[in-house]
Amino acid sequence: MQYKETITLAFSGASGAPYGLRLLEVLLAQHFRVYVLISSAARVVLDTESNIKLSGNEDKATEQLSALFNAADGQLQVFGKDNWFSPVASGSAAPKKMIVCPCSAGSVSAIAVGASDNLLERAADVVIKERGQLILVPRETPFSEIHLENMLKLAKLGVTIMPAAPGFYHQPQTINDLVDFMVARILDHLNIEHNLTKRWGYGEGKK
Ligand SMILES: Cc1cc2nc3c(=O)[nH]c(=O)nc-3n(C[C@H](O)[C@H](O)[C@H](O)COP(=O)(O)O)c2cc1C
Repeated sequence: MQYKETITLAFSGASGAPYGLRLLEVLLAQHFRVYVLISSAARVVLDTESNIKLSGNEDKATEQLSALFNAADGQLQVFGKDNWFSPVASGSAAPKKMIVCPCSAGSVSAIAVGASDNLLERAADVVIKERGQLILVPRETPFSEIHLENMLKLAKLGVTIMPAAPGFYHQPQTINDLVDFMVARILDHLNIEHNLTKRWGYGEGKK
């Protein structure tokens, strides 16, 4: 199958697994190929919030998520946190677009200092050094000065900081509406067409 593009989607251990799962679902439905990275803490969060018990084995996790979202063969690939030979670990092969959704304060910090201690952190470091598009969706409240300084540093480097902060002006009726609000904004920044939410300034019925 021909895919539009390959995008890296990383889940770290912040609350907000439904945002990342919905983003994954939409990207696959829109015929993108997705490389998925999942931190150890993110596996705990996926289980806690979405009842998804994801295997620590990358092949099994790939099968699980592919089945869940009906992905085509080879469309979705999970890479383990120590898989330094995966494409995302090198500027010569990594996709130019990466989203960390949700993004923990810990991952924000590690990315801000270039720690590269696991594949998620390394992949983010690669996207920054290659001047690609990195979007972080942090979730924490309140933000401490440490978090804010890290986010400011990253924003100055060109990283897009999109806190998981859905609006209410579209009168959400369900949790899915709130999730879609965030996913729609992420898709907007990736320049991907969608009709998940109505756009500001358009009347009823227009999306
Ligand atoms: C259920 C659950 C919810 C969590 N929620 C948050 C959160 O909203 N924000 C955050 O920064 N950390 C949160 N944490 C803590 C992080 O998972 C923890 O700091 C972890 O070390 C982050 O590692 P990672 O960035 O490699 O995933 C949560 C942990 C669990 C188990």
